[in-house]
Amino acid sequence: MIGRLNHVAIAVPDLAAAADQYRNTLGATVRAPQDEPDHGVTVVFIELPNTKIELLYPLGDNSPIKGFLDKNPSGGIHHMCFEVEDILAARDTLKAQGARVLGDGEPKIGAHGKPVLFLHPKDFNGCLIELEQV
Ligand code: CO
Repeated sequence: MIGRLNHVAIAVPDLAAAADQYRNTLGATVRAPQDEPDHGVTVVFIELPNTKIELLYPLGDNSPIKGFLDKNPSGGIHHMCFEVEDILAARDTLKAQGARVLGDGEPKIGAHGKPVLFLHPKDFNGCLIELEQV
């Protein structure tokens, strides 16, 4: 069901410093910051030849990243995003197998303008998984 690894997301305590590190120290192509108010994050995408890194920084008072950074003050891997062809079919298949979908279970439009869903980390070895329809 899952296809390519679309991105790995890393929550960071200092977005500008993290973006500079990927640009200057690691020599990667770094995009401009993007505010995603619906998701409570500001995102910087790092373009790699085979996938992307998504740097996440809290936006607003109810950001889902804030609690993560409270627990992991120096940052850490927050989620992985896998591509799927049909997000509703993927959701229904996963739910039928007992996996929990976060939120109301309906896809939201993600940072790439495509529908996304998140799966409960406790059902996937402690890893928050994002599915994105491509
Ligand atoms: Co993501």
